[in-house]
Amino acid sequence: MNRQIAAGAEAVIERYDDRVIKRRVVKNYRIPELDTRIRASRTRNEAKLISEARRCGVPTPIIYDVDTAEHAITMEFIEGPRLKEVLNLHLCEEIGELVGRLHSCGIIHGDLTTSNLIKNDGRICFIDFGLGYFDKSVEAQGVDVHVLFQTFVSTHSDSGLEGAFSRGYKRTFADADQVLARVREIEARGRYL
Ligand SMILES: Nc1ncnc2c1ncn2[C@@H]1O[C@H](COP(=O)(O)OP(=O)(O)O)[C@@H](O)[C@H]1O
Ligand SMILES: [Mg+2]
Repeated sequence: MNRQIAAGAEAVIERYDDRVIKRRVVKNYRIPELDTRIRASRTRNEAKLISEARRCGVPTPIIYDVDTAEHAITMEFIEGPRLKEVLNLHLCEEIGELVGRLHSCGIIHGDLTTSNLIKNDGRICFIDFGLGYFDKSVEAQGVDVHVLFQTFVSTHSDSGLEGAFSRGYKRTFADADQVLARVREIEARGRYL
């Protein structure tokens, strides 16, 4: 089997049996030299963060190859629905635990939405670290959680999801209370802008 399974804003994802290749495509609105540099650095950055997250106990695809000339990452294909399709309170609590581990390790995902989480074999797998970075600040962690909470409101409209996330998050992350307080501040800032 060999087919394209997704085409996002930045990348094309093709599946080859149990592998996928994520290839960042040319963006014509960028100056060519800059475009090449951005694609290469995001590719390297994403591969590094996927491996690092896995090392700190957060399920991510196994990386098989990183080709910076082709701007392509070959990784494990993760079977299963996106959390967007199957989210419930129990899974939300598990997401909280995993994000707590990620933040404990100093990793910011950068695009925490329920489309970037796949439910696979009794575990939740994190993908799409292209906008991720290393940062231990409360502000960066707060923004990371805020982005996720926004997808709860806009695509799931289920009350209780934030509470369930927070229970899991507090279980694995010592600074959770401080970050959750910052999330409320960030929400308030948004309201008065
Ligand atoms: N390793 C993978 N296993 C299974 N599906 C994947 C994998 N990587 C990406 N996908 C699918 O492709 C989509 C887009 O990939 P993603 O890495 O999120 O790129 P983008 O930056 O374009 O959002 C995902 O939402 C998911 O459905
Ligand atoms: Mg994505």
